[in-house]
Amino acid sequence: DASDIEKGTYPHYMLKEIDEQPLVIRNIISKYQDENGEVKLDENIRNAVNAADRIYIIAAGTSYNAGLVGKQLIENIAKKPVETHIASEFLYNMPLISKNPLFIFISQSGETADSRGVLVAVKKLGYPALTITNVPGSTLSREADYTLHTYGGPEIAVASTKAYTAQMAVLSLLAVDSAKAQGFELDFDPIKELSIVATVMETLCDQKEALEKIARDYLSVTRNCFFIGRASDYYVVLEGALKLKEISYIQAEGFAGGELKHGTIALIEKGTPVFALATQEHVNLSIRGNVKEVAARGATPCIISLEGLNFEDDQFVVPKVHEYLTPLVTVIPMQLIAYYAALHRGCDVDKPRNLAKSVTVE
Ligand code: G6P
Repeated sequence: DASDIEKGTYPHYMLKEIDEQPLVIRNIISKYQDENGEVKLDENIRNAVNAADRIYIIAAGTSYNAGLVGKQLIENIAKKPVETHIASEFLYNMPLISKNPLFIFISQSGETADSRGVLVAVKKLGYPALTITNVPGSTLSREADYTLHTYGGPEIAVASTKAYTAQMAVLSLLAVDSAKAQGFELDFDPIKELSIVATVMETLCDQKEALEKIARDYLSVTRNCFFIGRASDYYVVLEGALKLKEISYIQAEGFAGGELKHGTIALIEKGTPVFALATQEHVNLSIRGNVKEVAARGATPCIISLEGLNFEDDQFVVPKVHEYLTPLVTVIPMQLIAYYAALHRGCDVDKPRNLAKSVTVE
């Protein structure tokens, strides 16, 4: 049928969509560049971002995980305070809202009811809203004041991959655009750095065999596993764990490296797989300390590190990109490990049980 044609030679949409990520990043670069090769957002969006004294990011699932990285990007590059909230919880315990807020809704589908509930509520309060979505014309896009398109192309697999990296790329450009509008001097060329990201993504997508082997070695039989990271690696391991549990049904939890010892380490047994992400210099030794703690209790660690910060026997090394953009590339080994784990366990990769691509009920 038609859907088979779209999949081309790929066995699953998920694998096709993982491989499309370099293309999506290049597409985003070209869409958000002006004729002089400068990052440029729509004037109204630029003004809305700059009028804000605080940004509230609202999202669910994988889009929420992208929002955690988005907070860092905007705070680091545009120097604006950002809070990231889970959509379904936001209205129960609404934070005190600043004088001039901007609400940013991140949603692949633009149809998530939990996010829409917040959008309707904040519009009633008269606050401006921007939707970052893969589907312009979707409900969240129509009901917000502004839309930024993530240009990911249709995402069919229930487990989101390219939409996540596209969201982070667009958030980085929003941050860059705002920094420029505020007259900040940038110490990096965002277009060049995103192009490097696309190239590194390609390199990672070419390492399927190594990642398939990791999936087979670590995840063939286990019932549970852990993902640990610190600082921005923590946000990526949350997404890595989510990917794995969604499609392989292995109970996988993402933890901040330092928090593990405050309870969860009790779950470590002989052979429990622990994936550790170590891509930042300032936390490299501390996350490796956490790996030692779990290994001493019998865990089987798998360290995914960054070129230059890697130790000799790390299981997988990711090439270096600009530090702000590292989450866009480190998620790819996680996506592929999840994919192969699900495949080897005989799971329905594209249509996992109990899940829907877009959830239009609260
Ligand atoms: C569903 C999907 C997730 C997705 C979440 C938010 O639960 O299964 O993959 O992250 O909704 O979707 P959205 O379209 O708002 O990004």
